[in-house]
Amino acid sequence: MNFSNKLIDWYNLNKRDLPWRLTKDPYRIWVSEIILQQTRIEHGEKYYHKFLKKYPNISYLASTSNDELLKIWEGLGYYSRALNMHKTALIVQEKFDGKFPSKYSDLIELPGIGDYTASAVSSICSDEVQPVVDGNVLRFLSRLYKIDLPIDTAKTKTYFKNLGFKLIKGVKPGDFNQAMMDYGSMVCKPRKSCCQDCMFSSECVAFNTDSVMQYPFKKKKIKIKDRYLNYVVILSDDKKTRIKKRNSEGIWKNLYEFPLIETKKESTHNDIIKKLDIDFLELKDVKRIKHKLSHQLLHISFYIFRVGDIFDDFISIQSLNKYPFPKPLNKFISELV
Ligand code: ADE
Repeated sequence: MNFSNKLIDWYNLNKRDLPWRLTKDPYRIWVSEIILQQTRIEHGEKYYHKFLKKYPNISYLASTSNDELLKIWEGLGYYSRALNMHKTALIVQEKFDGKFPSKYSDLIELPGIGDYTASAVSSICSDEVQPVVDGNVLRFLSRLYKIDLPIDTAKTKTYFKNLGFKLIKGVKPGDFNQAMMDYGSMVCKPRKSCCQDCMFSSECVAFNTDSVMQYPFKKKKIKIKDRYLNYVVILSDDKKTRIKKRNSEGIWKNLYEFPLIETKKESTHNDIIKKLDIDFLELKDVKRIKHKLSHQLLHISFYIFRVGDIFDDFISIQSLNKYPFPKPLNKFISELV
């Protein structure tokens, strides 16, 4: 039996029981695939249900506000995914009469949809022969064939896409793609690879040369940037505070936060008080946390000030949960209320 048939047989017996596998509705499959980018399956499943409860079809999504959408997305990270989904929903309403497309050539034109998502949706929903190339596929195939190419280049993606076209022949494309991803995440795992249980070990070139853990590899080492975010949390006696919407490009765009002073290095409370240049605030407490993102290490400090008089734009801390906040701020807020 050839590689692909063996893999499909394995999939039919071992596939994960996932909610989006009960449908071929391109809208739902698209929602699942966008959520699952950069997100663990167990974490993504909860969001899939929550998202579809709020937006059961494309017209609900098209008519939402960014704040509402980001509230649903809160905690998932990479928030531009959600904003692109909204843009896509508006286009689908207009150009496709509200019917979510399932053809690769239509999908690839939409905001936030690249080769991975267009291949996943078109293969699952309309049996289009489009192999997916995600992290699981790159790992599995780079080990199986001991492919000495760094996986973080466009050229390598094309190489794997072409290899995928050869392997996907003669089997159901949607099943093949999902089988590749399941095999990559259940057997050919990143760190604890289960080579003893792998039915391809006799043909796996990396396994037979004792080099499984050397694959895949990257060209560039990611450089982690340190950032110092100092939040000025002003609490009034009647439990109100001030928040702002984050408009700058980069992380957390359109989410809410407390007034921010970003510095080049760690600050002391005196540095911050000097920068604020207001003497009617009384510093009550400072809380410091670190938060890792894929390319940044955030050194976050919350400077909690007390103030007697309140300003016009203050809102009650009880109502903070109506606004979308970044994950580390939400954690801080939950300890505040
Ligand atoms: N990861 C992302 N999408 C997936 C899918 N449809 N099946 C398995 N793993 C996935």
